[in-house]
Amino acid sequence: MANNITFSMVKPDAVHDQHIGGIISMIEQAGFGIKAIKLTQLTPERAGEFYAEHKERPFYARLCQDISAGPVIAMALEKENAVVDFRTLIGTTNPEEAAVGTIRKKFGKSIDANAVHGSDANESATRELALFFPELSL
Ligand code: RTP
Ligand code: MG
Repeated sequence: MANNITFSMVKPDAVHDQHIGGIISMIEQAGFGIKAIKLTQLTPERAGEFYAEHKERPFYARLCQDISAGPVIAMALEKENAVVDFRTLIGTTNPEEAAVGTIRKKFGKSIDANAVHGSDANESATRELALFFPELSL
């Protein structure tokens, strides 16, 4: 898997708060190209599949409920070193601890409503992109 593509979602909290434009603007300004984009909504079942790595965690049920509670903007993002650079751009999981200039610092409200998702490794990006964009040849 090349390291020039990652998967991102604007999460339901940020879509609801009308931050799609603000978040995409920060993504573009950071040098990412949008290879694919769609507005969609996860069913609770697909949410469970998406976050399967967290199945045993105490927050799993709430996590699946939150991510399927409303529409999301799913994106395939291109850039050299995409996965690592995008994780830097979004900031830490808890927006209160996120660095100034990160997306979660600006738009995240809490650890449960942290505005945006980014793949945590090239393997995760491959799996997540296949879930949302099976039509992309990667
Ligand atoms: P994400 O997958 O959503 O992009 O976030 P992440 O990599 O920064 O964090 P991850 O560990 O994958 O956790 C997924 C989501 O679960 C919620 N979470 N709650 N201690 C907690 O209560 C806790 N830890 C994680 C967050 O909403 C996080 O985005
Ligand atoms: Mg994660």
